[in-house]
Amino acid sequence: MLYVTRREVFSASHRLFIENLSDEENKRIFGKCSNPNGHGHNYILEVTVAGEADPATGYVVDLKVLKELIQKEIIQKVDHKNLNVDVDFLQGKNPTVENIVSSIWDQLVEKIPSGKLYSIKLRETENNYVEYKGKE
Ligand code: NI
Repeated sequence: MLYVTRREVFSASHRLFIENLSDEENKRIFGKCSNPNGHGHNYILEVTVAGEADPATGYVVDLKVLKELIQKEIIQKVDHKNLNVDVDFLQGKNPTVENIVSSIWDQLVEKIPSGKLYSIKLRETENNYVEYKGKE
């Protein structure tokens, strides 16, 4: 099995909060990410497709096509946006890395041109990332 990864970056703002908790309680749970007026991150997204190489092209997936797909379905919708309000596929979700990464999976899984979506990694800070490999 071969694993092919495309990396893309985007910058976005968010505020993590649970609606029926006070600002104090939200701050205790979500820290800086619960700043009432939001704050920003530079996110790094990695999309990995698994499969066998096509005998004719030698590719598992055409990275040019994969890049365009990620740009169109994800990056154009999230880059320089407010993840709490601007993004159709995040509506009604608390934009934690966990919720963002599984939502990105759902946006891409049926559209991968060849091979099979294997994992999506999303890095929010230098030291934290979440990886999603679909439902068990
Ligand atoms: Ni944050």
